[in-house]
Amino acid sequence: MHIDHVCRAIWSFITRLSEGARRLFLRGVAELVKRNDVAALYHYATMIEEHAYMDSPDVAWPGFFKQYDCLDHVELPKPPEQSGVDVFSAIRLRRSRRSYSSEPLDLHEVSAVLYHAAGIRGWDGDWPLRVYPSAGGLQPVEVYLAADRIDGVERGLYHYNPLNHSLCLLRNGRYMDTLSAIALGQDHVAKAPAALVMTAVYSRTASKYAARSYRYVHLDAGTVVQNVYLAAEAMGLATVVVGAFYDEELCRLLGIDCYNEIPVAIMPIGKRL
Ligand SMILES: Cc1cc2nc3c(=O)[nH]c(=O)nc-3n(C[C@H](O)[C@H](O)[C@H](O)COP(=O)(O)O)c2cc1C
Repeated sequence: MHIDHVCRAIWSFITRLSEGARRLFLRGVAELVKRNDVAALYHYATMIEEHAYMDSPDVAWPGFFKQYDCLDHVELPKPPEQSGVDVFSAIRLRRSRRSYSSEPLDLHEVSAVLYHAAGIRGWDGDWPLRVYPSAGGLQPVEVYLAADRIDGVERGLYHYNPLNHSLCLLRNGRYMDTLSAIALGQDHVAKAPAALVMTAVYSRTASKYAARSYRYVHLDAGTVVQNVYLAAEAMGLATVVVGAFYDEELCRLLGIDCYNEIPVAIMPIGKRL
């Protein structure tokens, strides 16, 4: 979260008020600060109004895709085009499921989930089009995969590369216990054969929408989360979105800075019991 953007948004908001309204607002701010209600302050300061902060974002465009030096690559099989479950049924039957079979996932399931979560559905010239909607089409969501028991896949932490629908191995090792500890000790996370971790490259969205981006990246990521739920439902898998986690520990695990790129959700996933 770019704190300088928020300060500028708040300042821009204050300078647009009349003298009387400004006095009232500042009294309100003092009250919000006293109550530690930074969320209310942020919401007021990032409302869309004429001549607002949105004219002058100064964040450099970081590009649509993160590229890593990978220890190894896993080519994912072509994702299926149909599941046999219609979308209304998937929406109606979706549940947060926290029990997983001890059986491993297979690569076709992983491929189907990752593609339908955040894959590329086409191109408009050199502008990628994704399976999830995104404010300004700026596509801030990145997906990582902690793989513990996936047939044919080494245990480790991977980054999903939507450009060639592959996994890039960042680090070998077992991460489910670590993820469970990061998720405030939630047991079900440790028992899953794999987990997706969604982050948002805040600077992608902030390069256009400045401070308002903190609202948008979570909306974007929420649509990816629902894609995972529905894809899991269509394939009879179990998943749940986990929003309770220690931010800094998760950033350290992923090797991200918690500033330009922020963690949004963990989704353990596996076959159903
Ligand atoms: C933003 C968000 C954060 C959540 N965090 C957690 C979590 O940390 N752990 C968990 O087990 N479930 C978590 N959930 C799942 C909710 O508990 C679940 O969606 C809710 O109980 C409704 O159940 P349903 O999804 O089966 O309809 C979260 C859901 C959302 C939308």
